[in-house]
Amino acid sequence: MLLAVEAKNLKKTFKTKQGNVEAVRDVSFKVNKGEIFGILGPNGAGKSTTILMLTTLLRITSGTAKINDLDVVKNDSEVRNKIGIALQDTGIDNLLTARELFYTTARLWGLSKSKSKDRTKEMLNLVGLTEAADRRVKTYSGGMKRRLDLGLSLVHKPEVLFLDEPTTGLDPGSRRVLWDEIKKLRDEGVTIILTTQYLEEADELANRISIIDEGLVVAEGTPDELKSSIGGDVITLTFRSDDDAIKAQTIIENSDIEDKQIRVTVENGAEKIPNLLNLLVSKDINVQSVSANKPSLDDVFLKVTGYRLEGEKTLIEESK
Ligand SMILES: Nc1ncnc2c1ncn2[C@@H]1O[C@H](COP(=O)(O)OP(=O)(O)O)[C@@H](O)[C@H]1O
Ligand SMILES: [Mg+2]
Repeated sequence: MLLAVEAKNLKKTFKTKQGNVEAVRDVSFKVNKGEIFGILGPNGAGKSTTILMLTTLLRITSGTAKINDLDVVKNDSEVRNKIGIALQDTGIDNLLTARELFYTTARLWGLSKSKSKDRTKEMLNLVGLTEAADRRVKTYSGGMKRRLDLGLSLVHKPEVLFLDEPTTGLDPGSRRVLWDEIKKLRDEGVTIILTTQYLEEADELANRISIIDEGLVVAEGTPDELKSSIGGDVITLTFRSDDDAIKAQTIIENSDIEDKQIRVTVENGAEKIPNLLNLLVSKDINVQSVSANKPSLDDVFLKVTGYRLEGEKTLIEESK
């Protein structure tokens, strides 16, 4: 039994007054034990709905899901004992302290009073909240709250951990702290399924990634596999005006345009640049700058969905 998670043709339809919403249309994937599996997709792609179904918190419309070979519908209580969940919208009581929350959570999982006390200390230490342990959670920064969420999901030592957008809205520094925590957990043998809208996060953390868009899996693989699926290098040409970019796009085959930039994927990018520039000059189109790069997950995302993942922009802005 090497699979930690197996999702097969998962589907979720919400019935609303405005009609049916197909939040998840067809999602399948397998997660190996001990890996970090990333579910990458924009807002509204169906990430949270998928996580809620896998964690028994939401009824599955059709399809099946197994955690450690246990069916999440038929064996829901066994499944709940094996998994840890840190949801996107947590219902943490802000008026309590981290120490109180860890202790209560440990008691809820059936630990004795003294074991709960020990576990509380251990967990506070693990997520770096020992000093802030007796402060009310409402005084915590975003990063501290996320570390608390993560810690609370680990109190009962789950084998499989689900993290729904663990770093959304955090500054780059706090994000990195959480990334390190998450990697450490994987190194200790915990299987982790995390959702994210950040390409950089998926690239940095995930052993394998499933890209989902509008409730469907549009690509899957290791970050390297996904990048090589682009086949070649990405040449980016920047022009002084939108007009020049539009003209250039009609001349360069298979190019994508975005504002003043054209992107085209070719074999041996650097070697192709002189020819491309000559071609454009011969048509009186001025190029402001040009570069050839190995494809990024951004390029993969654009290729499989036809658009760029938002949110990444915020990440870039934040890291300035
Ligand atoms: N309880 C619900 N009722 C109706 N529609 C919902 C509900 N939850 C989510 N949706 C819709 O389902 C789609 C997927 O949502 P969600 O799984 O939250 O996406 P993500 O987590 O990727 O942002 C969205 O269009 C969302 O508006
Ligand atoms: Mg979500």
